[in-house]
Amino acid sequence: MISEAQLEQTLKDLFDNLSFTSEPTGLYDPLRYMIGIGGKRVRPRLCLLTYSLYKNAFSEEILSPAAALEVFHSFTLIHDDIMDNADVRRGVPTVCRKWDNNTAILSGDVMCIDSYRRLAVAPKAVLPQVLGLFTKTAAEVCEGQQYDMDFENDKNVTMEDYVKMTGLKTAVLIACAAKMGAIIAGAPEHHCEQLYKFGYDLGLAFQVADDYLDTFGDVKVFGKAIGGDIINGKKTWLLTRAVEKGEALEEAGIIGPGKGKAKIIEAMEMPVDTEAHKAEKIAVVKSLYEAFGVDEDAKYEVIKLHDRAISHLQGLGLSRVKLEMLHRFADRLVGRTK
Ligand code: IPE
Ligand code: IPE
Ligand code: MG
Ligand code: MG
Ligand code: MG
Repeated sequence: MISEAQLEQTLKDLFDNLSFTSEPTGLYDPLRYMIGIGGKRVRPRLCLLTYSLYKNAFSEEILSPAAALEVFHSFTLIHDDIMDNADVRRGVPTVCRKWDNNTAILSGDVMCIDSYRRLAVAPKAVLPQVLGLFTKTAAEVCEGQQYDMDFENDKNVTMEDYVKMTGLKTAVLIACAAKMGAIIAGAPEHHCEQLYKFGYDLGLAFQVADDYLDTFGDVKVFGKAIGGDIINGKKTWLLTRAVEKGEALEEAGIIGPGKGKAKIIEAMEMPVDTEAHKAEKIAVVKSLYEAFGVDEDAKYEVIKLHDRAISHLQGLGLSRVKLEMLHRFADRLVGRTK
């Protein structure tokens, strides 16, 4: 059996030795920069982990597709930072700031293409299935990102809308990573499906945690600017819940009329034209979140989704040791501070 220590070492070696075309440097340097900084590498780790449930050694057939997941993910982040007007990512300037938007667009494009090249190394017998899954997932991520932008200008986003959006922009890629490792390892169909559900619910939990950290995290650890979602009018879990809860608290007479939903909408309409206005808006929205208790609600939601993810592993007949590895991965993923 592959141990967690072996898996971590393999992951490290994989990214230490990942090579890309060198010229033109204007195209490939941003790519190397982004991969070199290294994020948490959640998706390739999960892919290797589910593969290791069925195989006793790693080889190129899984290493290359695992790398593809991270290259694809990093591509989505480069484009996401243009869309979200972000200055900092993984503790360093975003590609669109260190270079410019045009560079970020094209380097992102070539990363997407590079990810397909790496994916194509999957064993021939499962290649159509792997390609089908990945392509469906990639389109879904774009759909989720479109909803994310559409929702910026929509005042009536419900929790159902939110889950649909984050399911697409975030959860499907984590689900895809979990399923892909199992498919390439030749796991039974039912296992592949259950691991997909495991990854999907973990992905939903992961995005709620990300939303929480965007407002309540520590910039040094999180590696991204705090309050960016508030400034961009993002319909995060916190905001969606605050609107919903503000209304409910008013209806129940726990808070006075106009002190719930209206207050949060009013705060979200505060101007963001200067740095001082931005800071003020973040402070006001944050204090409303705290007053409504949605910060605590978010923590509870993460635990709930984590537990639902774990429930999909029941009945697969995995050994205790293997289940514990999946549990530790899940705990680490949602207990994150960055
Ligand atoms: C960021 O993903 C985008 C979300 C889905 C929240 P990660 O939090 O996995 O980012 P890195 O790869 O570790 O930087
Ligand atoms: C990003 O969501 C999801 C994708 C990149 C597909 P966010 O916009 O919340 O991610 P961060 O916070 O910038 O990493
Ligand atoms: Mg975004
Ligand atoms: Mg973003
Ligand atoms: Mg975010």
